[in-house]
Amino acid sequence: MTDLPTLLLIHGFPHDHTLWDAQVAALSASAHVLAPDLRGFGAGGPVPDVMTMEAYAEDLKKLLDERGLPGSERIVLCGLSMGGYIALAFLERWPERVQALVLCNTRSGADTEEGRAARQETARNAKEKGVPVIARATLPKVLSEHTRTSDPELVASMEAMMARQRPDAVAAAALGMAQRPDRTALLSSISVPTLIITGAEDELMPLPTSEAMHQAIAHSELVVIPNVAHLSNVEDPVRFNATLRNFLSSLPHA
Ligand code: MLT
Repeated sequence: MTDLPTLLLIHGFPHDHTLWDAQVAALSASAHVLAPDLRGFGAGGPVPDVMTMEAYAEDLKKLLDERGLPGSERIVLCGLSMGGYIALAFLERWPERVQALVLCNTRSGADTEEGRAARQETARNAKEKGVPVIARATLPKVLSEHTRTSDPELVASMEAMMARQRPDAVAAAALGMAQRPDRTALLSSISVPTLIITGAEDELMPLPTSEAMHQAIAHSELVVIPNVAHLSNVEDPVRFNATLRNFLSSLPHA
């Protein structure tokens, strides 16, 4: 068991660790799986006004050091969307701690001016209108039409997961994402095996975004899951898990 890789799953915005329930259940024979709540989300502790991607990455580094799991000196780092922004911030600072990288439904670029203004509005809305309003508006952007029509239970559980997040945590993350730098230049320095997964219908991270990361990262593989949008791991856990399991089994043993 000790030569299993340690897989650190980083959730997106505004999610908590339950985003990864289907992966934790399916992949625990293939890896030591860690799926923490980011600060402020789920059971995560108090947050400052702005949580930068670097601050989340520092929290994760601390968590790895404290757990001291076998293999946690070099981990497989997997982030979805905001989790991908955090994974890149982690990799930039501690490349020696990363054995392999999985970037799901994410991008390396920074926000546009318009995007930053929208983050300010999200932060305001979280506090003034409440997170359930944001959750309701977000659903059609993150789940494909196929998912929305075929799996109402999943739609309800994703809405509930987003709606229950704390307004201060949502605001701090939105403002932190607005501040994140463009990490596209980092991509060409990545030398670890990298898997890029996205949904064919992800409008938040359109396919060319993932294709560009694939082009820029030397040892990368791109997998596009049909019929899914932004939450590819929950919309098609069977395909997602099989892809990730194959990737894990292709890694050299520690
Ligand atoms: C996420 O799912 O984490 C968000 O869509 C990321 C973002 O808003 O840029």
